[in-house]
Amino acid sequence: MTINDVRIIPLPKILDARGNLSFAENYNQIPFEIKRTYWIYDVPGGEERGGHAFRENEEVVIALSGSFDVVVDDGQNKKTFSLNRSYYGLFIPKGLWRTMENFSTNSFALEFGSVGYSEKDYVRDYDEFLTLKRDGKI
Ligand code: TYD
Repeated sequence: MTINDVRIIPLPKILDARGNLSFAENYNQIPFEIKRTYWIYDVPGGEERGGHAFRENEEVVIALSGSFDVVVDDGQNKKTFSLNRSYYGLFIPKGLWRTMENFSTNSFALEFGSVGYSEKDYVRDYDEFLTLKRDGKI
C-alpha cells in the first residue's frame, strides 16, 4: 500500500431544513465490514494521536465535529489530509504509518475499523515500520 491508496470517500448528505443527515454502510460507502468503532475527543491543544501503522486493520476516519489533519506515510512519501466536514470519510488501507494532529477545540474523530482491537496488529516503532515496508512484510 502507498499513500496513493488513501482516498476521501464522499458520504451521502440528506439536506433537510430540520438538520442534515449522513450515513455509511458496510461494503457500500465503507469498503470493508466494520468490526470496530472508536472515537477520539477532548484532545488538548497541540497533542498528536496515532503514530503507528496497522498490519491488517483498515480504517475510515470522519471528522464528525471540528477539524484535524491525518498524515499518512508509506515509508517513501507523506501526504496530509485535512478533515473538517462530517460528510467525508478518509479511507486508510493497512500498512501505512499514520498520525493525527492539529485538532481544533471540540473536535470529534470517528473511526471505523475492519478488525477488532489487537495490540499485535500495531507497529509502533517507526524504524521497524520502515524495515517491514522495505522487506514487503507490511
Ligand atoms: P491507540 O490506537 O494507540 O490510539 P491512537 O492511535 O488514537 O493514538 O490506542 C490508545 C489506547 O487505547 C491503547 O492503549 C489501546 C487502547 N485501545 C483499545 O483498547 N481499543 C481500541 O479499539 C483502540 C483503538 C484503542
